[in-house]
Amino acid sequence: MNHPLILGIETSCDETAAAVVTRTENAEPAILSNVVLSQIEEHAAFGGVVPEIAARAHVEALDGVVRAALIEATVTVDALDAVAATVGPGLVGGLMVGAMTGKAIAAARDLPFIGVNHLEGHALTPRLSHGLAYPYLLLLVSGGHSQILLVKGLGTYERWGTTIDDALGEAFDKTAKLLELPHPGGPNVERMAAAGDPKRFSLPRPMKGEARLDFSFSGLKTALRLAAEDAAPLSEQDVSDLCASFQAAAAETVADRIGRALVRFRALYPDQAEPVLGVAGGVGANSRIRAALSAECAKAGARLVAPPLALCSDNAAMIAYAGLERFEAGLTDPLDTPIRSRWPLDRDAAPLVGHGRRGAKA
Ligand code: KG4
Ligand code: ZN
Repeated sequence: MNHPLILGIETSCDETAAAVVTRTENAEPAILSNVVLSQIEEHAAFGGVVPEIAARAHVEALDGVVRAALIEATVTVDALDAVAATVGPGLVGGLMVGAMTGKAIAAARDLPFIGVNHLEGHALTPRLSHGLAYPYLLLLVSGGHSQILLVKGLGTYERWGTTIDDALGEAFDKTAKLLELPHPGGPNVERMAAAGDPKRFSLPRPMKGEARLDFSFSGLKTALRLAAEDAAPLSEQDVSDLCASFQAAAAETVADRIGRALVRFRALYPDQAEPVLGVAGGVGANSRIRAALSAECAKAGARLVAPPLALCSDNAAMIAYAGLERFEAGLTDPLDTPIRSRWPLDRDAAPLVGHGRRGAKA
């Protein structure tokens, strides 16, 4: 049987990405190409993503990135069965560039178009990387989101927890900025933390022990700032110790929330012998957080599925894969599908006060 061949396009933030995904003869997901062009250098001087610069960079790069993805997959546009592009949530300028390009290719070749929710791309990544069966729990921790989701099936998600203030990646980025480490913060905080003492500064574990499954990171960020001010002027060792202490607090908080979510999952699906926790989003690359999650899963008799780092951070393979599942389910979209800067996966989840102030990154 010939499986559908899907081109995916991702431009919702600061990565210009295109990928081609299909299935093997055994129906397992197959990534034929996954091209990601990061704009980190364009934004570095500003300490964060500048929307206008991002949109212009997508315009300049996307044609070439799509071409590279097709060449690497050794396919032509004529071989495609559908084109999937991220249509939300994210930065409007970038979304417009990706959606218009995807729609133009679809219109020119008379192919179906699929408008993908970027968060669905992250949510389905453990199926792309490990062929996970529904249902499973997902921890999505990126620059714009910290969510615990129940992934019940394609298009059916329950948000069990979210952040009431900063996203975890945002907290890492702000910590880095405060300590004058380069953007993006997460990897640099992790690098410095490797040589640090995680016990030197005692920082809070926000929400730890609370029954609701939400996160809060702004108190931790403030505590870190105060600790840094107390210790100033900071030596390199001080910075390492602050990073290690911050990372330990973040990991412990996340593990606590996940421990509770796994209990709830077990109660809901008592017949599932081994509950599964999937991780997605850039912060999922952090090895200290992965270790804490792995310990928590071991305690709960659950399995941790952490996709390869390249699939944790923003990429187009996850968009193409979400497009593939949608295409197989007969879910395609008209060419006038709008882009949406905000687009929660769980329509029934009430927005939390203070959540989504940044909102741009997903
Ligand atoms: O998923 P992602 O690539 O982009 C979106 O936000 O959609 O996530 C980027 C975020 C940034 O905040 C970055 O600092 C964080 O993930 N991050 C990390 C690590 N690598 C990336 N945070 C902690 N440790 C890391 N190793
Ligand atoms: Zn993302």
